[in-house]
Amino acid sequence: MKIGIIVGTRPEIIKMAPVIRECKKRGIAYFIIHSNQHYSQEMDSIFFKELELPAPDYNLGVGSGLHSNQTGNILIEMEPILLQEKPDVVLVQGDTNTVLAGALAASKLDIKVGHIEAGLRSYDRTMPEETNRILTDHMSEYLFAVGPNQHAILAKEGIDSDKIFTVGNTVSDSLFQHLDISASTSTILADLDVTSGEFFLVTAHRASNVDIPANLLELLALFDKLHAKYSQTIVWPIHPRTQSKLKEFSIELPSYLKLIPPIGYLDFIQLQKHAQLILTDSGGIQEEACLLGVPCITLRENTERPESIEVGANVLVGRDAVKALAAADKWLASDAASFSWSNPFGDGHVAETILDIITNSVPNTLEEEII
Ligand code: UD1
Ligand code: UDP
Repeated sequence: MKIGIIVGTRPEIIKMAPVIRECKKRGIAYFIIHSNQHYSQEMDSIFFKELELPAPDYNLGVGSGLHSNQTGNILIEMEPILLQEKPDVVLVQGDTNTVLAGALAASKLDIKVGHIEAGLRSYDRTMPEETNRILTDHMSEYLFAVGPNQHAILAKEGIDSDKIFTVGNTVSDSLFQHLDISASTSTILADLDVTSGEFFLVTAHRASNVDIPANLLELLALFDKLHAKYSQTIVWPIHPRTQSKLKEFSIELPSYLKLIPPIGYLDFIQLQKHAQLILTDSGGIQEEACLLGVPCITLRENTERPESIEVGANVLVGRDAVKALAAADKWLASDAASFSWSNPFGDGHVAETILDIITNSVPNTLEEEII
């Protein structure tokens, strides 16, 4: 059996890492295709290094671009590689343009697609990721759903239940595998001169929040109100998309916002773990905050991760400062030690389960050929 593993962006590298490691451990034949949708050192190679991943076998070098352009370029570059490598299964993770293009390229060649993190739905079709998720799910032979909600969503969309496997999220594998090493190696709190439990952590990169000047300003006004009330330092490892929009719109930021470039995973885990509150529009960070027991305020009107809200770890506020303050008030009035909720995102052994499923159902073509 041979597995083609496709990655393209920061979260895909982080969440695919446990699958790559498990393939290596089991001696399964695999190859990695990196679209290079993310390419800046701090969005790309730092994660290969920190997570001790082998260099991609193929780097498509597509970089940034308009949606169809980027998706189309990945599709074009991917096809000859898949034709040559002839994998039995191609694995994609998440909802990026790389995921859609990878799944489509494989599907057109009649190669089985395994979608890790299948069945997430925000029900917001203005979000490019929602289209990517839906189309990828409907092209997949193996739908690795995070939990029962996603299983039900997929079944309701008419996907054969035999193809749906409820396995959890590989975000739990990555996080649990790197918590200790991050605690022992990261010096990020000292480097930033912040104290555990005494700062807020922010990230924002959704097109809906940062591409429209009025929306970005509304978000900054929310941070202003939060700072006016709590006087906390707000640490903001800024996504390159957001950085470029601040520049394009000539927006200056106040000094209480501790702006830093995107940081590595080991440092970011520590920042999350020691933040008093996390404010984010990221998908993966909603999950990690929940796993780490840190309250999350989600800067979106909807989420495809409602489980973190259901267990009491997350609140949706959009860009509404009143709602954000109400959420912060509630959490800051409680003892941080009391933040404990059940974990809806997996047991840290999700990649193992995924590979058990694939290896049990895909015939070992190599062995068959030898026989
Ligand atoms: C992409 C995904 C999003 C995911 C996010 C993870 C899509 C449609 N979007 O959004 O789902 O949550 O990655 O971070 O697939 N840039 C750089 N260096 C880089 C990468 C990007 O400078 O390495 C800048 C460029 O100005 C680029 C912009 O960021 O135009 C946006 O990059 P892009 O990959 O198109 O979208 P993301 O916002 O990163
Ligand atoms: N992350 C990181 N450094 C940062 C910001 C985020 O390592 O400066 C990690 C974070 O721990 C999570 C992932 O990147 O695992 C989330 O990526 P992002 O928010 O870009 O994408 P999304 O999850 O929204 O698709």
